[in-house]
Amino acid sequence: MADQRVSVHGMWSSRAVFIMAAVGSAVGLGNIWKFPYITGEYGGGAFVVVYLLCIALIGIPVMMAEILLGRRGRSSPIGTMQRLAREENASNAWVLLGYGGVVAGFLILSFYSVIAGWALAYVFQAASGGLNGISAEGAEGLFGGLVGSPGQLLLWHSLFMLMTVAVVARGVRHGLERAITILMPALFVMLVIMVGYAYVEGDFARGAAFLFNTDFAKVFQLCTGPAEALDCSFSGEPLLVAMGHAFFTLSLGMGAIMAYGAYVPERASITGATITIAAADTLVALLAGLAIFPIVFASGLEPSSGPGLIFQSLAIAFGGMPGGQWFGTIFFVLLVFAAWSSSISLVEPAVAWLVDTRGWRRGSAALLIGLTAWTLGIGSALSFNLWSGPEYQLFGKTLFDLKDFLASNIMLPLGGLFISLFVAYSAGRHMALDELSIQRQHLFNLWWFVIRYIAPLGIVVVFLNSIGVF
Ligand code: TRP
Repeated sequence: MADQRVSVHGMWSSRAVFIMAAVGSAVGLGNIWKFPYITGEYGGGAFVVVYLLCIALIGIPVMMAEILLGRRGRSSPIGTMQRLAREENASNAWVLLGYGGVVAGFLILSFYSVIAGWALAYVFQAASGGLNGISAEGAEGLFGGLVGSPGQLLLWHSLFMLMTVAVVARGVRHGLERAITILMPALFVMLVIMVGYAYVEGDFARGAAFLFNTDFAKVFQLCTGPAEALDCSFSGEPLLVAMGHAFFTLSLGMGAIMAYGAYVPERASITGATITIAAADTLVALLAGLAIFPIVFASGLEPSSGPGLIFQSLAIAFGGMPGGQWFGTIFFVLLVFAAWSSSISLVEPAVAWLVDTRGWRRGSAALLIGLTAWTLGIGSALSFNLWSGPEYQLFGKTLFDLKDFLASNIMLPLGGLFISLFVAYSAGRHMALDELSIQRQHLFNLWWFVIRYIAPLGIVVVFLNSIGVF
């Protein structure tokens, strides 16, 4: 029966196009902005190892499960869960997975768009020569000036949201396919050039050591305060953040990949696609780290300086390199594109739902969702200036941090947990076997074991650890 099902939004023209779109969703600010800055905050190598383990043991198997659900259901995540729960005689409560994803998508988009706005602002800075010859202090000042201005942040945030809505309204395929095929490889080449520059001009040995030397004591400790009076205590938070980031960077756990999976042709191999997507995503993150940390150390920036890390370090790099005005402009344009192809996938589950189930037009659905996320995003923009003070914080976090924490570290892993539980226990082996059509039995058995036991237990253990149970 699943064979005849076709999504109303059409299909990807081939498996390769699906992979491109999924890579476009996965590779974004998560790899280039968030990965370096949280790695810097949580002390480097050991955090990276935990993150890589989460990608391999939880991310890849859950991504296979999420794609197979999407292709089986051929609808929006909400529609898919409704349909599959009925077919598998499972509780209708599984649709909550779809609704939860839509909420998480709003939360993420509402801060994602603000950061993408920074990248937009830096396109203009770079192009107008504003970065030329900039010093470390100058780069900090420039970044501080941008995030300190509510007006500027709201302007760039609005512009980026408009760009997202415009593409989603036209339909992901028409809006996106061609652009991604050229721009993602270009971004990759730019990153390799940046790593080359960091190798020659930066403190490469120290940067690479920071990224790859594992000091596990650091993962289990949270240190705060200035270097001479560090206050360290045991904490499960770094583990939780590493796992949350594995979900975030792969676009997992909220239905984005499920929505894209609904447009996958019947015969395409899900396993091969997943491994390609995860490998490309991880490679881009590691390259970004290798490009940025050598510059951070060479120019005396603090690795733990927070969300501004890449904007400050890259400004210094482009400011000092011959032709930096050009390179910088191109790099930030490509970064905006990477963010764009990601933000589109954050909107797609909700749009697909309004169109499939509620009979809305794509354009109106995209507009409503964009407007809601834009409104929520005002709080994220103000978190860096008017609302940055302690009186506007909860648990020591600004609104921006809270939304990121709740969506990335709680909602996405919870989504992933329920995806694996549904596939492994509510639907059962027949559905997975049918969709995955893995030729080699032992490979299927391996995945089946991981999705039944390792992935769900891993997520639960990290959750329990983070609230101090063990
Ligand atoms: N993965 C993207 C990035 O790394 C962000 C993203 C897009 C995302 N779609 C998502 C994150 C869905 C979680 C869920 O920039």
